[in-house]
Amino acid sequence: MNKKSIKDVEVSGKRCLVRVDFNVPMKDGVITDENRIDGAIPTIKYLADKGAKVILCSHMGKPHNIFTEGFGLNKKEKKAVEALPEEERAAATAEYLKKALKDKEKLTLRPVAVRLSEKLGKKVVFAEDVVGESAKAAVANMKDGDIVLLENTRFEAGEEKRDEELCKKLAAFCDIYVNDAFGTAHRSHATTAAIVEYGLVKTAVCGFLIEKELSVMANALENPVRPFVAILGGAKISDKLKVIDNLLNKCDTLIIGGGMAYTFIKAKGYSVGNSLVDDEQIGYCNEMMEKAKTLGKQLYLPIDVVVTEKFPDPIDAKVDATICDIDKIPADKEALDIGPKTRALYAEAVKNAKTVIWNGPMGVSENPCFASGTIAVAKALADTTATTIIGGGDSAAAVKNLGFADKMTHISTGGGASLELFEGKKLPGIECLNDKD
Ligand code: 3PG
Repeated sequence: MNKKSIKDVEVSGKRCLVRVDFNVPMKDGVITDENRIDGAIPTIKYLADKGAKVILCSHMGKPHNIFTEGFGLNKKEKKAVEALPEEERAAATAEYLKKALKDKEKLTLRPVAVRLSEKLGKKVVFAEDVVGESAKAAVANMKDGDIVLLENTRFEAGEEKRDEELCKKLAAFCDIYVNDAFGTAHRSHATTAAIVEYGLVKTAVCGFLIEKELSVMANALENPVRPFVAILGGAKISDKLKVIDNLLNKCDTLIIGGGMAYTFIKAKGYSVGNSLVDDEQIGYCNEMMEKAKTLGKQLYLPIDVVVTEKFPDPIDAKVDATICDIDKIPADKEALDIGPKTRALYAEAVKNAKTVIWNGPMGVSENPCFASGTIAVAKALADTTATTIIGGGDSAAAVKNLGFADKMTHISTGGGASLELFEGKKLPGIECLNDKD
């Protein structure tokens, strides 16, 4: 990578604004997956040990539109309130404000500051806002080697809107901008790219996590040890159009599972019952199957599936599930997982691979009735000697929940970001950084 890293600049005594991705899953105030916090620690430690003042910032979730000087209704909500009869407006406004306040409690980064501090064995000062009085005071009081974590950047309405005023306030906190938020590098927001793009911070470098993620993934995509197998799953084919196209150029074998497979199956002329299909993409699927043939690439699709009459509600509800061959999906049933023959076929394809990348579950893996396909793929990857790269998101969660995490070469901290890399896209959070001389 030709971008400067924290090792290329003098950081001692400097105020470093470090964009990390602490968008971690939480349940009842407890962090349920610490991979992203662990991933950021080498950069934080390095900077603090070098005597930099480390100002961390991150988003968490997708909060309601909250402003530091109070909080209000977003545009859609204002419109909805205005459309109501006058006497109903106050109650509706109060209801929206209640929701905003709830988000603020749920999506605060305070628990992350506590956990990070425990992990580092060092105090992490938590600022109650992003650029308000609490943040200003916390930054002003820093000594070399201190660490401050600012509150959820998305509590500022200007974060996603790339607001220049917000960028200016943040830039006033720092001498150096460091991006180590690989998971958010595909977003072009105030703290991920705009602050540098507006020319407000001249020294902009990456941290160790971004460096590692890029080197593993770029290496796999550009110089893979072959055979190179790519496995794609997930529900919607429309999310993966460019990924399929790009990966067909790079890999030797492309394996497709999950809801997106049934548009391919329909394109092949089979009836798929009530399975998820995007009719607009039938032509695209035919094109991709043709492309695989022309390039001499193997394209694997399910040969049998697990079907049910009704999509489970709630998602993990127990339902009747049966197995059928791909040409026998009943008209009133929906396929929600790959079947045992497909699992064996996919495991066999992975067995002799030397490089494997995987993004997306093979079925509705949240439900035990439809999780076997995803489990089988995770197990096949754990058993192979290939370099195995898990592209974040649900597949990363599956690998971890099954206890296979330490059997994988690399589990990415970025689902969306790694998918965009697989697409061949440039990530704004990385593009904006200083080039190496
Ligand atoms: C993620 O979890 O994929 C990243 O943190 C980005 O979050 P976002 O999809 O809410 O922008």
